[in-house]
Amino acid sequence: MTVRGVHIQIEKLSHRYSARSPLTFDRVELEAQRGEALAIIGRSGCGKSTLLHILAGLMRPTDGTVRLDNDVVDKPSPRWVMMFQAPHLFPWMKVSQNVGVGLHFAGWSEEKRRARVTEAIKLVHLQDYADNNVQDLSGGQQQRVALARSLVMEPEMLLLDEPFSALDAFTRAALQRDVRSITKRLGINLVIVTHDIDEAVLMADRALIMAGSPGKIYDELQIDLPDPRERQDPAVQAMRARLMEAFHKAAGAPPPDGEDTHDAAKPASQSIQGIGAGGKGTTTTPRIMSAGTPADIG
Ligand SMILES: Nc1ncnc2c1ncn2[C@@H]1O[C@H](COP(=O)(O)OP(=O)(O)O)[C@@H](O)[C@H]1O
Ligand SMILES: [Mg+2]
Repeated sequence: MTVRGVHIQIEKLSHRYSARSPLTFDRVELEAQRGEALAIIGRSGCGKSTLLHILAGLMRPTDGTVRLDNDVVDKPSPRWVMMFQAPHLFPWMKVSQNVGVGLHFAGWSEEKRRARVTEAIKLVHLQDYADNNVQDLSGGQQQRVALARSLVMEPEMLLLDEPFSALDAFTRAALQRDVRSITKRLGINLVIVTHDIDEAVLMADRALIMAGSPGKIYDELQIDLPDPRERQDPAVQAMRARLMEAFHKAAGAPPPDGEDTHDAAKPASQSIQGIGAGGKGTTTTPRIMSAGTPADIG
């Protein structure tokens, strides 16, 4: 497969869901280089998913523009694909059929399709399962099928919205490592929204911290660590501590425009509980709070 990344340019991006609702985020500016892996972290409700949906062309912003290699993004495209927490597979189809479904709709012949599908399945290490029914696979394997189905279209950018939070620690760690290495090998941009500080450190070249209401990119941290990244590596742990500190600062301090006094009044240890996605706080909080404990090592 021949794939390349994109240059991302976000300018003065603002969004509100309706004329009467408050601004979700306000004049967000962001530039990312071809092939760069970005992690977006921030408290629940600060607009991470909204930003990702706009980046994927699934939603139009109220104001501002997203440009990918100078093309304005205003609709979905196979050039930028989004993966969600649930893999959304066709349960009655085999792995290979699920992976090839996009090529099928694009009118590819069966022969051409087979070669590309085989390659994509191999990339995600599912070659022994190509003829299995997806219903017989584990959650992690199903997420791999969804990944192969995205990669088969040769996207330039892969967008992930907390895609591994429903998986167990071992499965999650394997997918984090593989998604990073695959996107790096193919040169694809990666944008991952996560509430997991470890995930950001293990997967990204740069972490962006969103905070405030309306949300803004409050801070960023360059994660210049060599690959492969191991959780127990002191350099990885030091980076995690730096990101955690930056996150606490963003969550605990008043946001840039000083509007979010409610959050600012909370102590940092409480503020971080809000980092989990809405409704999932009970599972996400202990994992973040216990970062560095053996239970967190997957
Ligand atoms: N479909 C929607 N209609 C109206 N408001 C929404 C909708 N989706 C999200 N919001 C609001 O926009 C804000 C940002 O939401 P979201 O982007 O999901 O945040 P995050 O992913 O950071 O948790 C929240 O206040 C949320 O309530
Ligand atoms: Mg979200």
